[in-house]
Amino acid sequence: MKTALALGGVLVVAAVAAASWVLTAPRPLDAATIRAVSEPGDPASGRVVYFLAGCDSCHMSPGQSDPLRLGGGQELKTPFGSFFPPNISSDRADGIGAWSAADFANALMAGVGPREQHLYPAFPYPSYARMSEKDVRDLFAFLKTAPPVAGRAPPDKLGFPFSIRRAVGFWKLLYFSADRRPRPTDTVDIEARGRYLVEGPGHCGECHTPRTVLGGPIAARALTGAPLPEGKGKTPNITAAGLSDWSEDDIAYALSTGLTPSGDSLGGPMAAVVRNLAQVPQADLAAIARYLKTFTPGGGA
Ligand code: HEC
Ligand code: HEC
Repeated sequence: MKTALALGGVLVVAAVAAASWVLTAPRPLDAATIRAVSEPGDPASGRVVYFLAGCDSCHMSPGQSDPLRLGGGQELKTPFGSFFPPNISSDRADGIGAWSAADFANALMAGVGPREQHLYPAFPYPSYARMSEKDVRDLFAFLKTAPPVAGRAPPDKLGFPFSIRRAVGFWKLLYFSADRRPRPTDTVDIEARGRYLVEGPGHCGECHTPRTVLGGPIAARALTGAPLPEGKGKTPNITAAGLSDWSEDDIAYALSTGLTPSGDSLGGPMAAVVRNLAQVPQADLAAIARYLKTFTPGGGA
């Protein structure tokens, strides 16, 4: 009787362990998405996506100002330790020059690396997962035109247990589902376009949405402002309530010039966002402004 109970207990534990191992396994994209992102992309459109998405602000080689030198290695401080984003230049050995479109899309839209490993959400793929297949393939085509940069980033310095990459699977179970992705069409109204840009490539919530202690976004307080990951300062509330004194034009103007209606200039991590958004068509900034002026958390977002 005792042995049977003990054996039963062992089986239950083994079953739970096996189930959670399966549930937390890296899940690459489905075949239809892979096919769609593998079609030839347009580098000129991809350039706009690149600046909307601000890939350079984390992947630019440190100590230089060319936003297309993507050698990686800048320190990215978070409450879980320091990341050193990898080289994503077109270098075949050290960067992603030898990657397929499928490898690229799996990283960007599923948080899965080419060795089928989980990627840490310090790389804002939970937002990029909402990008359209067209934007992803155009971005990939554009990145191929950026120069190769040799050299690899230093290893991350993460505290235990965050250093266990496989544990990202639990985080994804709680906070990430690639299926939430709205599939934008090319002809959308300005507000829908704004929502897409804010939630997808623009990844505004990665800095402006507060997080739980496990680093998951709190949807009910989306875009209401949050402490900065490096520990000092806070991002402002950019919902309709937070920007009640701003007109849509004020917002669009601030996003491309850094100048606010009260005459301040946007600094800290927002400075890099503004530098990139200055490269983006005015219509897209107007769409972002329109969406923010209507956005209330919990109001269907
Ligand atoms: C907020 C910082 C940040 C931004 C913005 C960012 N990344 Fe990253 N990226 C990272 C980090 C950190 C990693 C490493 C994740 C890991 O080790 O699991 C990474 C990993 C990657 C990888 C996997 C590379 C490899 O060798 O495994 C690719 C590809 C990538 N990023 C592309 C992009 C692209 C394209 C953009 C813009 C659309 C972008 N990233 C924007 C931080 C960022
Ligand atoms: C890397 C982090 C980061 C990202 C990503 C980011 N922001 Fe910000 N944002 C900030 C910080 C920090 C400030 C405060 C800057 C200051 O006060 O100098 C700010 C300020 C702002 C302001 C000024 C609001 C006010 O009341 O002063 C607006 C508007 C804004 N962000 C919009 C956006 C939009 C739209 C996006 C996405 C396209 C975005 N931000 C993405 C960090 C970020």
